[in-house]
Order: sequence, then structure tokens, then C-alpha cells
Amino acid sequence: MNEPLQLTIVGGGMITADQLLPSIYHLQRTGAVGDITICALNSAPLAALRDDPGLAAAFPGQRFIPRPSFDQPADRQFPGLYREVLAGMPKRQAVVVAVPDHLHYETVKAALAADQHVLSVKPLVLRHAEALEIEAVARERGLFVGVEYHKRFDRRSLVARRAYREGRFGSFAMGEAKLIEPYYYRSSNFQNWFTVDRTDPFTYIGCHYVDLVYFITGLRPVEVSLQGVRGRFPNGNEGFLWSHGRVRWENGALLSVVNGLGYPDLAAGSNDQGLVMFCEGDGRSGMIRHDDHDRGVGYAYLDGTGPGGSHFNYVSPDYLKLVPWDGPGFRPVGYGYDSVEASILTMARIEAAVRGMDPARSLAERRRLLAEVDARGIIATPANSAVNEQVVEAARESILSDGTTVKIG
Ligand SMILES: NC(=O)c1ccc[n+]([C@@H]2O[C@H](COP(=O)([O-])OP(=O)(O)OC[C@H]3O[C@@H](n4cnc5c(N)ncnc54)[C@H](O)[C@@H]3O)[C@@H](O)[C@H]2O)c1
Repeated sequence: MNEPLQLTIVGGGMITADQLLPSIYHLQRTGAVGDITICALNSAPLAALRDDPGLAAAFPGQRFIPRPSFDQPADRQFPGLYREVLAGMPKRQAVVVAVPDHLHYETVKAALAADQHVLSVKPLVLRHAEALEIEAVARERGLFVGVEYHKRFDRRSLVARRAYREGRFGSFAMGEAKLIEPYYYRSSNFQNWFTVDRTDPFTYIGCHYVDLVYFITGLRPVEVSLQGVRGRFPNGNEGFLWSHGRVRWENGALLSVVNGLGYPDLAAGSNDQGLVMFCEGDGRSGMIRHDDHDRGVGYAYLDGTGPGGSHFNYVSPDYLKLVPWDGPGFRPVGYGYDSVEASILTMARIEAAVRGMDPARSLAERRRLLAEVDARGIIATPANSAVNEQVVEAARESILSDGTTVKIG
């Protein structure tokens, strides 16, 4: 039996509420995770997590340690508190990074400096050099860094990867990916950080499908061009609300990537997403088509209790749902859970393997196990997914010059 890992989540926003905390609470139930601390910028999101009726119903009696504490004024900000929290943890436990994109670099670095294994939400960082730096520091210290590209754990992605690599489709030639998030995102905390100078829909969610094409095919992207449509958030901040990108791959293939924060709240969505890839074979063509929007489940509710207040909804049982199980409350199922579980259990497995070893042997063994994870390429790590940072960096340069083609590498 592995020792439970103490775990700190830095960031208490939407992704923590929707995916990370439900997954981690369940891992606490199974004994993989011990105490859970959540550190946010201020106490307000922590109180919201504590009072979330969905979490309370699914995980009765389970709690997290809030930093800052609940009795701090809701809006008093503690931007540096996470460093103190990380430094106070025992070595080689688990840190989950779930702060806005532009803060990932400093937070991941602080976690590594505190000798912690890390799982970061995507994108790991916004610059390729930063990803290489993180990879080097983690290798030197024998620490795991996983990047939470959960679409890799969608069963359809895994099936496609295997079949593509068996040569059953031919060579990817032309494709189209789309992910449009709901309009109501514009009224969330996003409006405070999703500004033109920092990010855009391609950087935020387009990267999922770029990573997926790389994950399925093993092809590397070589060139990106990206244009955006600017607009205002409710608080007046200017953001790219829509983006249209084109990625060229090393074999000459092209992928069109359409993203935005604007799927109608009252439509059945709750977002719109999918991937089509046409491939060239010998005297015929192959195709991969994933409809990630309508996964075949449509529910009409009596009241508007669907996402965004919708009455009719295309429900995805595949990403993350809290469902009845043979235990208390509800359990998370789906690739959102599988992805978090894969990284946390890898940390636990590595620590179990080196327990009791002297420091030099432990470091050598941790590095060996980490190299295996990198090589398998299922969990995204800096070593096997830093092409994503190259794409994001090129995409940011391109969108700020309204679509100039930027070469990678
Ligand atoms: N599909 C996906 O993979 C997916 C989906 C949503 C979000 N994300 C990623 O998750 C990250 C967070 O997104 P979100 O939607 O939860 O955003 P959010 O704005 O809802 O939450 C951000 C959180 O970070 C906290 N924070 C900010 N500065 C901090 C600091 N200095 N110390 C501690 N906490 C701090 C805030 O208090 C807030 O709780 C982003 O990088 C985003 O790209 C990924």
C-alpha cells in the first residue's frame, strides 16, 4: 500500500471546482491522497468551494484546508501565500497548479524549488524556453511534472492513437478542430485575466486539439498562423473572444483550429467541439472523425437546470460526471478523472518504488522511472509535450501581428 500523498492545489477557480477537486477528493477516498490544501488569491473562491452543494453531496464529510483561511476578508489578496504553503509541505508530495495561464511558470518553479511533484493544468507555460527549463530542473531533482491534457485520456483519443500508429488510416493530410466554450464564461473571473496581452482562445483551448493531433499521429507542428476577433468582457477589458488558426505539420499536413468564448448559453452544447482528420493512404484515403459535441446523450429537463440555464442539453458522460457508485455520495467518472488519477498515481508509484533508498539511489531510480513516463508519451510531460509551448509561443506572436505565419523550431 502506497503512503497517501499530501496534496496542495494552487488556485481555487472553475477548473478546481469542476474537475480537479472532485477527482482529488475521490483519490483521497481511495487512499492515494492524504490531506488536501487549497491556496487561492483570496478567501472568496475557497468559501465557494466549501459551500458548493454538488461537491458536498458527492463527497460527504470530506474537507480541504483553506489558505488563506475562511475568516480572512473575502477580497483581501495574498499573491505570495502559495510560496509559504509549498515551502511548508514535506518533500516530494503533490502540487496541482490551477492558476491563470500566465502564472503557471512561477508557480511550477516554486513547487519544484520546494521539492514537490507537480501536475499543472494546460498549457504548462507560455514559452518554449520555460518548458525546457522546467524539464531540466525536474530531471535534476528527480521530480515528476505532468501537464493535464485530459483529452489524451478520452478513450476515443487512445483508440485513434493506436489505430493511427498501426497504419490503419494512412498519413494525416488535412484536418479541422473546433472548441467553442460557452458565452457565460465571459462573465466569470476570466474577464480579469483573459486579456489580449496575455492569452486568446487558441492558447486557452485550441492547444488541446493541437496536442491531440500530435498525440495521435506523433507528427510535430512546424508553422502556425492565428487571427483573432477582439471584443469586450462585461467589465470592459478587451480580449480575443474568437480565434482562427492554421497549423502546418512536419509532413506538410494542415490543421484548421477554430476557438471562441461564445457558444450560446441556451443552446444544447454545453460547448461545441470536435476533430476531423483526413489521411492519405495508398490509392485511398482514411479518416478520423470525433464528434465531441453530441456524444449521443440528449436530456430535456423540466426546469432550466442544464449548463447556462439550458432546458435541453447534449450531455457528455465522457469528460467528468459525478455518478452513483457502491460507496458514499457520488464518484467522478470520465477522462477528466482518469487524467488526474494517472498523474497522481504516477507520483505515488515513484515514491513507493524509492521508499527506504539512500538519496543517491533514490534520485537515480526516480530519474529512470520518469524517463519511462516520458517515453511512453501517454501522460503529457515537458519532455514529450513541449511542442505545445512552441505552438503557443508562435501563436501568440502571430495573433498579435494579425496572422503572420510564424515558424517553429
Ligand atoms: N479544459 C481545460 O484543460 C481547462 C479548463 C479550464 C481551465 N483550465 C486552466 O486552468 C487554469 C485556471 O483556470 P480557471 O478556469 O480555474 O480560472 P479561474 O479564473 O476560475 O481561477 C483562477 C484561480 O487562481 C487563483 N489565483 C490567482 N492568482 C493566485 C495566486 N497568486 N496564488 C494563489 N491562487 C491564485 C484565483 O484565486 C482563482 O481561484 C488556467 O490555466 C486555465 O487555462 C484548463
